[in-house]
Amino acid sequence: MARNYFIAGNWKMHKTRSESAALAKELTAALKDGRHKYLVAPSFTALETVGAIVKGSNILLGAQNCAAEEQGAHTGEVSVLQLKDLGVQTVILGHSERRHTYKEDDALVNRKVRLALKHGLDVILCVGELLEEREAGNAESVCERQTVEGLKGVSAADFSRVTIAYEPVWAIGTGKTATPEDADAIHAYIRKVIGGLYGADAAKGVVIQYGGSVKPDNAAALMAKENIDGALVGGASLTADAFVPIAKF
Ligand code: 13P
Repeated sequence: MARNYFIAGNWKMHKTRSESAALAKELTAALKDGRHKYLVAPSFTALETVGAIVKGSNILLGAQNCAAEEQGAHTGEVSVLQLKDLGVQTVILGHSERRHTYKEDDALVNRKVRLALKHGLDVILCVGELLEEREAGNAESVCERQTVEGLKGVSAADFSRVTIAYEPVWAIGTGKTATPEDADAIHAYIRKVIGGLYGADAAKGVVIQYGGSVKPDNAAALMAKENIDGALVGGASLTADAFVPIAKF
């Protein structure tokens, strides 16, 4: 397979700066000889600390969100310009916790995607259906809508800096993983959607991560599937003991 595996840790709202630094140090040492592409996304408050540790290593620095505007009267928001200033290379957008807990809709996610790309950041665009959407037979259509709407106005050149993460909401933090077969089927569908938007080469090249209760004992089976090109890991990214075996599957 020509696509590189991309394993990312989304630390969500966990860890102080010193805890973040300790984990980042363990990971830079343990993954030095890792063969895949790696990223960690700590909380905003730990970005500078972790950035100084991973700098020059094979681990990229990611943020978990950004504002849809560059600057201005947006109390509590963080701008892409501020992220870049801290050395952030990639931003995770459209995570299900942003969509469902913080009510971000496709249009807002799209504005963030375009702004991040415009300022030279790479993007991990998360898509995924709720349990009731899956049970109603709408998993594909939900993922298609979130992909198409999230990428509206994104040029083919800019799309080359986008990774898609398929995270079925019912599998996040629940211990329920999609079976490798179920996940692969949605990944294949998303790849087809990308083909419709950007052509066959883009479809072949796009990296599609799976997220949702990825653990050391299920990572290899997921990654073995043709259309699964990496993982976006939550809970198991919070310790080196769990993340390193996933990253080195
Ligand atoms: P868990 O790995 O804890 O299920 O979280 C997945 C996730 O949401 C990563 O962004």
